Amino acid sequence: MQLQDKRHQNGRAKGRPATALVTGAAGFGGSHLVRELLNRGHRVTGLDIVPPLHAGLLRRELEHPDFRYLWQSLQDLQPADVQGHTVVAHLAAQADTPMAFASPRYTAMQNIDGTLALLEAVHRAGGVEKLLFAGSGNEIGRPSQFPIDENHPLTPHNPYGFSKAAAELAMWAWHRAYGVPAVVLSTGVVIGPQMRREVFIFKWLWNARHGQPLVVEGGRQTRDLSFIDDVIAAWVRVIEAPAELVVGEKFFVGSGEEHTVAELAQWCLEAAGADVPIEYVGYRPGEEGQREAFSNEKARRVLGHAPKVSSREAVRLTADWVRTLVQATPEEAQPA
Ligand SMILES: NC(=O)c1ccc[n+]([C@@H]2O[C@H](COP(=O)([O-])OP(=O)(O)OC[C@H]3O[C@@H](n4cnc5c(N)ncnc54)[C@H](O)[C@@H]3O)[C@@H](O)[C@H]2O)c1
Repeated sequence: MQLQDKRHQNGRAKGRPATALVTGAAGFGGSHLVRELLNRGHRVTGLDIVPPLHAGLLRRELEHPDFRYLWQSLQDLQPADVQGHTVVAHLAAQADTPMAFASPRYTAMQNIDGTLALLEAVHRAGGVEKLLFAGSGNEIGRPSQFPIDENHPLTPHNPYGFSKAAAELAMWAWHRAYGVPAVVLSTGVVIGPQMRREVFIFKWLWNARHGQPLVVEGGRQTRDLSFIDDVIAAWVRVIEAPAELVVGEKFFVGSGEEHTVAELAQWCLEAAGADVPIEYVGYRPGEEGQREAFSNEKARRVLGHAPKVSSREAVRLTADWVRTLVQATPEEAQPA
């Protein structure tokens, strides 16, 4: 991972548009990425197990002439499905940490086996210039150095973190063995419009709007919280960068800020303008002592990327979106 001979580059790379395969396209991050890539003139195939009629986050994109939806599981991906794509952005996952406690083997199957299927298909297809992987702060847990940088070893403290760490290790193994053009982009918690309703920030904003208490597990553990637009901007920079600048590299593209979970709960109350109690319950396994704040230095230096939205502003912007759900139809306004 030598960067000395790689040239710093700012903004959109010039050159031909990418033909991108986005896995997990119907999800929170995937749908935002698909939209931004189409807006920027790229051609996109979106893969997901969500049936097209239920892929509500892609409602408009499904009509776009440069978008094709592949309703298929990662596990059944064939080299022919990958051929013709210059970039693969791998976001498909069982992304829910609490669910991974209940279903660790299902989570491993989706996140590890699914990634292996993709790596094999990319390797056999040939022609892919970059394969981006969505890494998670949960792959580290309790850091030995702080702030956490890209050289920190993977030390997961929960079943979800384990599955993502194993998938990341597979990316590097296929890179070393076959030259699969791996790039890892990792974040802590990502929030914003269309975020998953199972995530604690959504639940707190929702409860605050509905006069319900906020339930906080633990409170003194910390999180690096980013806004979705900033994370997507980093992904686009990598997709549009010269391959030699990014392939074989890992980048943390979070906020770089560290906040306790108790502080985040307080921000949710303020952003929702609510006065409801916060109920503290025990830590979930592996959480006590967890710290997150990811150095932005490498992303800044190599990609010219820096987040524009602070963690606090991200909570405020997400609260604005949650408010629109409260005003929406009963179906759209269903909580998790
Ligand atoms: N949201 C966050 O805070 C966060 C933080 C760090 C990393 N990540 C990672 O970013 C990625 C996207 O997260 P998200 O929040 O958008 O999750 P999400 O659940 O909204 O999206 C994931 C999508 O993957 C699809 N999927 C799951 N298994 C599949 C399979 N076998 N084949 C095809 N599609 C499959 C799901 O149907 C879903 O639409 C995940 O890899 C997650 O681990 C998310």
